[in-house]
This record gives sequence, C-alpha cells and structure tokens, in this order.
Amino acid sequence: MASHKLSYTASYIAIKFYGLTLDERIGNHFSTATKNFYRNLVAFLPSHLSWYQNSLSKSFWRKLFIASEELLLPGDLMHIICRKYYIEQLIDEALSEGISQVVVLGAGFDHNGKFKANEKATFFDIDTPYMVEQKEDFLRDFGYKNSNHHVCSIDVEEQNLVDVLTHHPDFDSTKPTLYLAEGFFDYLSLSTTKQVLEQIRSLTPNHQLITTLFALEELNFFYRSSFTSGVAMVGETLKLPLNRTEFIQLMKDHQYTLQQEISHQQMYDDLVCSTGLKLPVMKGFYILTFK
Ligand SMILES: C[S@@+](CC[C@H](N)C(=O)[O-])C[C@H]1O[C@@H](n2cnc3c(N)ncnc32)[C@H](O)[C@@H]1O
Repeated sequence: MASHKLSYTASYIAIKFYGLTLDERIGNHFSTATKNFYRNLVAFLPSHLSWYQNSLSKSFWRKLFIASEELLLPGDLMHIICRKYYIEQLIDEALSEGISQVVVLGAGFDHNGKFKANEKATFFDIDTPYMVEQKEDFLRDFGYKNSNHHVCSIDVEEQNLVDVLTHHPDFDSTKPTLYLAEGFFDYLSLSTTKQVLEQIRSLTPNHQLITTLFALEELNFFYRSSFTSGVAMVGETLKLPLNRTEFIQLMKDHQYTLQQEISHQQMYDDLVCSTGLKLPVMKGFYILTFK
C-alpha cells in the first residue's frame, strides 16, 4: 500500500456499506448517524467514486451492482455489512468491560472513532499519511471532529507504532487498550504482521485484539482469483499467506489466546437470515477476538 495514495479498498467498503444499507432490511441494523456518515463519505470521495452516491440511490442500479458483485465474488457485499455490525457490538462489549483506549489499525474511513470516543474512551485511528489527510479533511468538512478521537499517520511498513504512539500526548500505555484490525493484517506481509504484534505487546501490556481474517484457501480457485485480482486492480495486495489454523497459531506464538470466533456461516445464520435476504457471506471470512 503506497503511503501517498487513496486506499480504494477502504473507499469501496464505504460505498458498499452505503449502497446496501439503503435497503431497509439491512439499514435497520445500523443507526441513522452511522448511515449518514457513510453517505457523506461517499459524497466526499473523488468524483470517479462519489458518483456512486447518486447512482446507488436508484433501486435499478443498486440491483445491477449487487448482481455483478455477487457474480464475481459471492458474499463480498454481505461480509462488509457483517464486519461493521459485529465489530460495533464487540467494541461496545469491550468498552462496557473497562477498555478505555482503542487503537484502530488501518482505520481507513471507519466510523467507530467518531461515534464511540468520549471522556471514558480515547480512540486512535492509524493509517498511512495520505489516508489520514483525507480522513482529517472529511471529519472537519462534515463537522465530525471529536476531541477524544485522534487520527494518526503511521505506515506500519516503515514506522514503529511504539515510537509514534508513545510520543502522542493523549496516548497512555497503562490503559486497558483494545486494538481493532479490521481488514488490516491481510494487507501486510507475515514479517510486518509479526512486528506489529510485537510492537502492540510492548506498547500496552494490558490489551485485547479484534481482528478479521480472510482464509483465502476456503474460496474456490475462481473466487480466490477474483478477490486477489480485484484488490490488485486498485493497486493493493493481499499479502498474509495464512489459513485459519496458521493464523491462530501465529497469534498463540505471540501469547494470544482466542476468546471468540464468528465464522461466515454464523454471520449468515444470525444477521443475514434476520434480514430475510438470500445473500451469502463470503466463505473464509472470520472475526476473531484475542486476549
Ligand atoms: C481494506 S482497508 C480497511 C479499512 C477499515 N479498517 C475498514 O474495515 O473499514 C485497509 C486499510 O489499511 C490501510 N493500510 C494498508 N497498509 C498500511 C500500512 N502499511 N500502514 C498503515 N495502514 C495501512 C489502508 O490505507 C486502508 O485504509
């Protein structure tokens, strides 16, 4: 991921979330404030992306968009809804259990910092310099600034989280901290992933981690190629070469114990079935929490 470029994967997450939540059966699971945040975000994106705001508001284009996405990679759309839905709940749970600092790694345009940061919990969104600039502009332009929500420029391929965060006046290494890695480790090499895990361990001895995982080998050859080439076409790369068992072993090697696992099947049986929609959740997608 180049530090000086817009992340298209982060932008398309916002576009897909916006488009899908226009359907009430999905939109009912999110607050109006969250839906407005993503609608405003899509409008804020460069013009070759912001046109989605108008086109997806029309049911015909939305249906066409969904049909073409489902053809290329079934479940890609619904996995976005599921990760936003379950991660929001997991963050709330962690905050109610005493977490008072949240670090969102590769935050992209995620909304949680804006809405959940308060005097009891400080949020730090971490991303590459250009993405941080874009997010700062968006938060300012739409009146989303929050004094307990900080957006920090750190390219983890080049900088050490410890060096940057320990110098931040509002970061406190002694606080019980939650790290959120939603669609993040997949874009890092194995060696950078290990470095990040070591850095967060030394930065905050008392912490927990919520992460997503794409176990690509669970997809058939066509859908796996569709996923990896789709990401490559927008100039980004899926780099972490681990299946579910190997990822959990990597975490164990870094002194983490798996606390909770939500599989694509569970997300389908629970959230998707409650909407009455027949859209699948991408195979191989997991949300995992570790302590
Ligand atoms: C797939 S997006 C996920 C965005 C967000 N977490 C979400 O789920 O809505 C991946 C994000 O990781 C960021 N990222 C990728 N490589 C990074 C790096 N080396 N350092 C910091 N952020 C990085 C990208 O800029 C992008 O915003």
